[in-house]
Amino acid sequence: YQSRDGLLELDLEASSGAVDLGGQQAYLLSYNGQIPAPRLEAKPGDTVRIHFTNNLSQPTNLHYHGLHIPVTGNADNVFLNIEPGERFDYEFTIPQDHPAGTFWYHPHRHGLVAEQLFGGLAGLFIVRGELDDIPEIKAAQEEFLVLQDFALDENGRMLPSNHTSAMTGREGQLITINGQLNPTLSLPANGLLRWRILNASPSRFYRLSLENHPFYLIATEGGSLAEPVEMSELLLTPGQRAEVLVRGDRNSGQYSLQNLPYNRGGMGMMGGRGMMGGRGMMGGRGMMGGRGMMGREDNAPTVLATLNYENAVEPVSLPTKLVSIPTLPEPQQVRRFQLNHGMEPGMGMVFLINGQPYKSDRIDTQVQLNTVEDWEIVNTGMMDHPFHIHTNPFQVISRNGKSEPYPAWTDTVLVARGETVRIRIPFRDFAGKTVYHCHILDHEDLGMMGNLEIR
Ligand code: C2O
Ligand code: CU
Ligand code: CU
Repeated sequence: YQSRDGLLELDLEASSGAVDLGGQQAYLLSYNGQIPAPRLEAKPGDTVRIHFTNNLSQPTNLHYHGLHIPVTGNADNVFLNIEPGERFDYEFTIPQDHPAGTFWYHPHRHGLVAEQLFGGLAGLFIVRGELDDIPEIKAAQEEFLVLQDFALDENGRMLPSNHTSAMTGREGQLITINGQLNPTLSLPANGLLRWRILNASPSRFYRLSLENHPFYLIATEGGSLAEPVEMSELLLTPGQRAEVLVRGDRNSGQYSLQNLPYNRGGMGMMGGRGMMGGRGMMGGRGMMGGRGMMGREDNAPTVLATLNYENAVEPVSLPTKLVSIPTLPEPQQVRRFQLNHGMEPGMGMVFLINGQPYKSDRIDTQVQLNTVEDWEIVNTGMMDHPFHIHTNPFQVISRNGKSEPYPAWTDTVLVARGETVRIRIPFRDFAGKTVYHCHILDHEDLGMMGNLEIR
C-alpha cells in the first residue's frame, strides 16, 4: 500500500486462520491474511488512515514502531484496547521533517504482545525521503526482508507456550523470510542490492552473515547513517531494523545468508540443562529447542536465504556520503534505569525496571517536552535486554563507557547482561503518555516496561 496525493488509506483486519507459510498451510494470526502483513509506504507530510478491524478472539491494538507521531488519540496510542469484533479508525500525519527509514507496525496490548507477534502479526511501514534520493541508493535494487520465527506442530498449528518458555523469550524452529523458508534472492544486473531487514520475532536475535562476504550498513532503526559502514556480520535484536547494500563482484556464484549462533543469556540459576531440557517443560516438541531457550550455543549456523548471481557484473560504486547526523546538545537531565528480574508471589518470575514490574496506572518517568535527556541503562540480570523507547528516537552515547564506533539514530538498543549503555534522547513535538520496554516481548508482557509521561 502506497500513499497517493498525500494520503495512505487502507482497511486492515487482524484475524486468525489458515495462511500459506513456505508452501505449507499454517494456522496463524495475520493482518489481511498475509504473513508478513502488507507493507505500508508513505512520505513525510502524508496523512495515514487505517480502518482497523479486530477479528481476533482477544483484545489488540496497533503500534507504529519507530514512527515519530503523536502518542495520543487515534495515532500511536498503545493504551487503546480494541475488543474482539470492534473497529477502530487510526489517523495521523507524518511530520514534514520525519526521517526516511524502515519502520514497522505490530500489536501492543500489554500482556498479549508476545503471543500476538509470535502468531505473525507484524508488517513494514516504510517512510521514503532523503536517503532514497541518493543516486547510488536509487540505482540499487530494493528488497524487503522480514524475519519471523514460528513454533508449529506437524499440522501447522501453533504450539502452546508456557511460563518457562516465556521467561527466556519464546522462539520457534521455523525461521522465515517474508513467510518463506530459505528463499532464493538474486543480485540484479548492476550488482547492487539494498536490503531492508526487520527482526519481527518476539525474542529471537539474528546474527547475520553472508559467509564472510562484506556488506555495507547504510541505515539503522532511526534512518540513514552519515556514511556506509563495511561489515561482515550484523546483530539484529527483536524490534531492530537495518538497511544494507550488498554488492556483487566479477565472480558469479552463490552464497547464503546465515544466522550465526548467539548467546543472549539464560536462566542459569533455574538449574540449567537438567530442569529446562525436558520435553514437558518446553511446551512441546522442538518449540524452544536448544540455544534460544537456554542461552546455550549450538555451533551450526542456520541458512536463512540463498543469494544467487549468475552473471559476472562490473562492481558498481557505493555512495560515500549519506545523510548527516547532528550531534545532540548536552543533556538537561540524566536518569538511571536498572534492568533485572525477580520472583513475585503467585506470578513466578517477573521482569523489572528499577526493581518494579509494570503497572498500567503508575507514571514511572516524567520528562519535559523540548528537552534532551541522557538515560543510563544498566543490565544487572542474566539475560540480554533490547531496550526500546516509543516515538522519540535517540543516539547511543556509550557502552560500558566506550563511545560507539559511528553515530546513528535508533529506537531499540541492546543492553547485554553486565552492560551499561548511555543513550541521549531529544523529546520533541509530542506530549502525552507512552512507554519504554524490553523488546523481548515476553519480558515486556512479564513486567519489563515503564510508563513515560512527556509534558
Ligand atoms: Cu515494537 Cu513498544 O514496540
Ligand atoms: Cu515501539
Ligand atoms: Cu528482556
